[in-house]
Amino acid sequence: MTACEYIPGLENVPAAQSAISYVDGQKGILEYRGIAVEELAQKSTFLETAYLLIWGHLPTAEELNAFESDIRYHRRIKYRIRDMMKCFPESGHPMDALQTSAAALGLFYSRRALNDPQYIRQAVVRLLAKIPTMVAAFQLMRKGNDPIQPNDELDYSTNFLYMLTERVPDTIAARVFDVCLLLHAEHTINASTFSAMVTASTMTDPYAVVASAVGTLAGPLHGGANEEVMTMLAEIGTIENVRPYIEDCIANKKRIMGFGHRVYKVKDPRATILQQLAERLFEQMGHDHFYDIALEVEKVVEEKLGHRGIYANVDFYSGLVYGKLRIPTDLFTPIFAIARVAGWLAHWREQLDANRIFRPTQIYSGNHNQPYILIQDRVRGEE
Ligand code: ACO
Repeated sequence: MTACEYIPGLENVPAAQSAISYVDGQKGILEYRGIAVEELAQKSTFLETAYLLIWGHLPTAEELNAFESDIRYHRRIKYRIRDMMKCFPESGHPMDALQTSAAALGLFYSRRALNDPQYIRQAVVRLLAKIPTMVAAFQLMRKGNDPIQPNDELDYSTNFLYMLTERVPDTIAARVFDVCLLLHAEHTINASTFSAMVTASTMTDPYAVVASAVGTLAGPLHGGANEEVMTMLAEIGTIENVRPYIEDCIANKKRIMGFGHRVYKVKDPRATILQQLAERLFEQMGHDHFYDIALEVEKVVEEKLGHRGIYANVDFYSGLVYGKLRIPTDLFTPIFAIARVAGWLAHWREQLDANRIFRPTQIYSGNHNQPYILIQDRVRGEE
């Protein structure tokens, strides 16, 4: 093996061969299994797209029907998981609650049979089915209420919004939410997917794979950004305040949340679709003051940072949509996780098909031949 250069953040270093999704960051292209995300957002649903990502082809009507009804059947969570979640502190972040609950599934479905296609299918179905129920259950329980049981009459997204808000949403709200899930379902090897792949490569169970990915998604530089976008828009408060706020961020080297992307150097195609969805939702549910502020923020950031390839990313408009659906801000990232489970599971399957445990190397930058200093002789600051 030849000596290699250290590349911080592994930027542009291929870590796998994958046929799941494709991004062209210069042209603003995103495809799932070769299909443009714009076309899927128009014609598909989240569950059909999850099927496409995980099994590699669009399902026939029969396959989709079987997949959807399996997921419907497995939406309930065991009362012991619910009871465990009741003990979580109300002040805890819902991402921590989700990570713990996802890992707990491994306790209840502990048979690990990675060579058995039935086991793989069951794990896929269980994770897609139960993660939304766990997110909604934690939300209700932290308010002191009992969780709402899934409703078998309702489709995936309608049922989730029903379990979360205690009301059946109108058709447009449910469809917009479903497309949000579809747009967040997969995005090549980002930090959380890489986490999932590294965990998968040890041949552990899929619940551990998803739990480690949830932990990675929680950070503000990754999935946590949409939550921070809403905090930023609230802090800005008025359209007049946008320019001074952004100029202050730039002068003080503060990150503007919802902008910039390691891969996209143009506007994230998902942000464009989400912006259109947000507008559709506001037409239906009433105008949103934050949207006006957001448009101005985008204009000023483009003017100031566009030449450096910093444009709106997927998180910039998703928060506005979720806010309009009256979803609490700290659930934005768990909702991202509900969607991304599809991508993580697709990479889990792909990893298993040609597995080699991840074991990168490092370039050692420490000392050698150091003496061991007895404790009584050590001076603070001395190693
Ligand atoms: N606001 C202000 N400046 C920025 C921003 C931003 N949002 N993003 C990048 N920059 C600047 C950096 O300050 C840095 O400037 P410097 O060269 O003068 O030090 C330069 O652009 C390069 O920044 P890096 O962090 O090296 O770029 P990278 O490609 O690693 O970062 C990242 C990508 C982490 C997403 C970054 O753009 C960021 O922090 N954005 C804000 C958080 C965010 O919105 N995250 C969601 C990403 S999408 C997702 O995870 C689903």
